[in-house]
Amino acid sequence: QRPILRLLSCPGTVAEDLRRDEQPSGSVETGFEDKIPRKRFSEMQNERREQAQRTVLIRCPEKISEKKFLKYLSQHGPINNHFFYESFGLYAVVEFCRKESVGSLQNGTRTPSMAMETAIPFRSRFLSLKLKNQTSEQSCIQSSDQLPPSNRKLFEILCYAESIDDQLNTLLKEFQLTEENTKLRYLTCSLIEDIAAAYFPDCVVRPFGSSVNTFGKLGCDLDMFLDLDETRNLSTHKTSGNFLTEFQVKNVPSERIATQKILSVIGECLDHFGPGCVGVQKILNARCPLVRFSHQASGFQCDLTTNNRIALTSSELLYIYGTLDSRVRALVFGIRCWARAHSLTSSIPGAWITNFSLTMMVIFFLQRRSPPILPTLDSLKTLADAEDKCIIEGNNCTFVRDLNRIKPSGNTETLELLLKEFFEYFGNFAFNKNSINIRQGREQNKPDSSPLYIQNPFETSLNISKNVSQSQLQKFVDLAQESAWVLQQKDTDRLSVSNNQPWGLAAILLPTVPNRRSFTKKKRKRSANESVRNLLESLKSNRTANFTETNEK
Ligand code: CTP
Ligand code: MG
Repeated sequence: QRPILRLLSCPGTVAEDLRRDEQPSGSVETGFEDKIPRKRFSEMQNERREQAQRTVLIRCPEKISEKKFLKYLSQHGPINNHFFYESFGLYAVVEFCRKESVGSLQNGTRTPSMAMETAIPFRSRFLSLKLKNQTSEQSCIQSSDQLPPSNRKLFEILCYAESIDDQLNTLLKEFQLTEENTKLRYLTCSLIEDIAAAYFPDCVVRPFGSSVNTFGKLGCDLDMFLDLDETRNLSTHKTSGNFLTEFQVKNVPSERIATQKILSVIGECLDHFGPGCVGVQKILNARCPLVRFSHQASGFQCDLTTNNRIALTSSELLYIYGTLDSRVRALVFGIRCWARAHSLTSSIPGAWITNFSLTMMVIFFLQRRSPPILPTLDSLKTLADAEDKCIIEGNNCTFVRDLNRIKPSGNTETLELLLKEFFEYFGNFAFNKNSINIRQGREQNKPDSSPLYIQNPFETSLNISKNVSQSQLQKFVDLAQESAWVLQQKDTDRLSVSNNQPWGLAAILLPTVPNRRSFTKKKRKRSANESVRNLLESLKSNRTANFTETNEK
């Protein structure tokens, strides 16, 4: 039975959302598995890229009639879909049915003339819509939200849920990228591609990382990959005769220098000519050189890299893992939000654990279940066919791309159990000697002394969490133990609902809960007991050692 009284205390909109989302009784459907298309990653990327190329971004006047707006734009051809959003002003994303419509719209668009400044002429697909005469329009626009819910709303929703499973699925639903947000991400890449195309007409700018790997949270950064493969390998078709032609090019001593030079000019170009691109930083000395900037109109923090194909392949692998079983994303979102709530992760680079590392830990944990919920990367490799074969810079990146060829898991464990066990598992993991490896799905001896060692699945000599300090790892372990303990307090769950107390997932997302005092006390007692035991054991072993030593002399 759902706690109706609590619902009444929710603000109207939340309560309505909740009622609308209610499943018919007896249904255990989470509502996510059917909505995730089991398309190949490349198929999904190509489809979305093609949609984005037929799309324009328009800054609108504050008050606008949707009907008139659509009528005006339809002069250039039929519109497939559109939506509005707010980000320091009202914007519209309009997808035409045909690409020609974009050209037609651009042909009827002028470069603004300014009184005090001079406009650098640039014909992009980012436009402004102005009212011809300053008559104010009646506004009746519904704008789509590009941000996650506030903490307050989140806690209300979580406390209202029926079970921890329900809480995790709700969290996923609230934080996952919406269809509109995904469209906006692909559109932003497409707009950047137009700019990069000034230098490299055949380039492709592809999103990677959490924007596309199914683990993206609303508000996450937009990782972009400038793909120059088409430019490099364009002329592969054979010509007849005794000759072949090659482009005259400039040569540089290494791939890294080439990458730095390319990103340097693209960075300049974004800075000088890119409408809406601000705060451009060229971070060319990083291990993976990049250009970082804000795309003001979409509100995305963007990282543009090139020569980073392996990262795109990792995104594809995560996409497969995220799509295989509906529990994966729910658990990853739960853990990501938990880590963020306790400042284990941060938007500033540093010694913290990253979301990417956390996702790997969840995948590894799910490979360790019995029966496993996720297959190992090695077993995905054995399912691969000739078409899947892929070697990048000498690294074997072969794995099955067709999701339908992977057998679903027979494991039926609940999310509640998995969440508890995740904290148990990593609260007691031998980080001091073992590394995490999703290729084989088992712990291995750490090859070096990094506090946290998570093997890069494709560049197997690299540790993806090399940046993590011992103290950050310890904080993770302590919080995992504490959260496991909080979740084990069975009685507090449903009872605390009536006391208006956060329970289940909501309780572990809070920085402090009253119950924790007893955990800390218990933990202190336990660690005191442990210290005494350790001391006794070390005395015992010292005695044995001394004894052996004396006897051997
Ligand atoms: N990546 C990697 N090795 C690392 C860090 C990142 O291969 N040490 C790749 C991964 O494919 C990752 C992508 O680069 O998904 C983007 O990195 P990042 O933005 O740090 O992580 P996201 O997965 O995008 O997560 P977030 O939502 O925090 O941005
Ligand atoms: Mg990212």
